[in-house]
Amino acid sequence: LDPVSVIVAKRDGHALDDAQIAWAVDAYTRGEMAPEQMSALLMAILLRGMDRREIATWTRAMIESGSRMDFSGLRRDGRALPTVDKHSTGGVGDKITLPLAPLVASFGVAVPQLSGRGLGHTGGTLDKLESIPGWRADVPIDEMTAQLESVGAVVCAANPDLAPADRLLYALRDVTGTVESIPMLAASIMSKKIAEGTGALVLDVKVGSGAFLPEIERARELADTMVELGERAGVATSALLTDMDQPLGRAAGNAVEVAESVEVLAGGGPADVVELTVALAAEMLTLAGLPDADPAAHLADGRAMDTWRAMIAAQGGDPDAPLPRARHTDTVTATETGRVRRVDARAVGDAAWRLGAGRSRPGADVQAEAGVIVHVATGDQVRPGTPLFTLHTRTPERFDAARAALTGAVTLADPESDPVAAPRVIERVRF
Ligand code: URA
Repeated sequence: LDPVSVIVAKRDGHALDDAQIAWAVDAYTRGEMAPEQMSALLMAILLRGMDRREIATWTRAMIESGSRMDFSGLRRDGRALPTVDKHSTGGVGDKITLPLAPLVASFGVAVPQLSGRGLGHTGGTLDKLESIPGWRADVPIDEMTAQLESVGAVVCAANPDLAPADRLLYALRDVTGTVESIPMLAASIMSKKIAEGTGALVLDVKVGSGAFLPEIERARELADTMVELGERAGVATSALLTDMDQPLGRAAGNAVEVAESVEVLAGGGPADVVELTVALAAEMLTLAGLPDADPAAHLADGRAMDTWRAMIAAQGGDPDAPLPRARHTDTVTATETGRVRRVDARAVGDAAWRLGAGRSRPGADVQAEAGVIVHVATGDQVRPGTPLFTLHTRTPERFDAARAALTGAVTLADPESDPVAAPRVIERVRF
């Protein structure tokens, strides 16, 4: 096999056979296929697409590029522990993993949550948790197993040998305008989740301006593709399509999102964050064999909070330590009167990123204290001077860029208009 014949086959709209796919993924991972050749193939895949067999073969090749984890032997009090994980396709203010993992674990289910760092305007779970003094993202596999058996939840970085082909391909997609290919998104996400060895998986597929695939038809196609990949690999998988047109909750950034998550774990917090946390927990617990579990009860009575505290402490964090606070804040206010129709998620994500919550180069540091607090939500009435956003940063020279990103972020309707309800959960996708 040679790279050019594989590129030409896809360029001309043919399905690639299993041998071509296995060869291309392996050759690129071993450095035998040049980046410019894989870039051309990725662009051909983006433009021509792949059928479900091709996507499944590509996913398998990425899994086989590294090692697989196995949690089937987890025990507590002599009883086997079911495992269930959640993956979000990424959004703005999406801190759901923080309350969700301990909430689900508080029902006696193991949650091995391998998480990532921020990407573009979307935040990363590990970056958020690292704002807790002492907390470590790197957990060796034997400690991970012990923590799952004792505490029930671990949120940590993936080990470098989990689907290494994805790490290489992801970096290339990021710089070649090919991230949005549905086959590549599905294979990237599912290769890591299948290699992780979870028994069940719930996918939170985002729709709207703050998502990688803003249109519902494409988000649905991604969800369908991933659910089929999971089920065919023996992982009980379902997906929820959820709204990411508006930021989730009131906080977007790092420490500010941890603070909001702790409010949810204490039985409070913004209604939309609670709604989505409870919906995803119910879906995860159903797949883990507990369809009658009542997640809202464990938020109200403190059991989810107890598991959170144990989970943070097990990874070296101090759950009682004060979170970093920004030295500089600046408030953006309304200039007109009206009823809020929409707060644009993408604009809020870009502003948080510009304030220092995200990275502009791989491996750069993020500011734990940087972020945006959103003071208004759909349906609220505003007048000139009403606070819309408070910007937090260590570097006040970034305020102008963040303010520019937020220009036009709040759409107002007539003050007399009826409020329009925007439910977070749009639909459920099963195999
Ligand atoms: N998350 C992933 O793991 N892969 C993608 O391609 C996009 C989001």
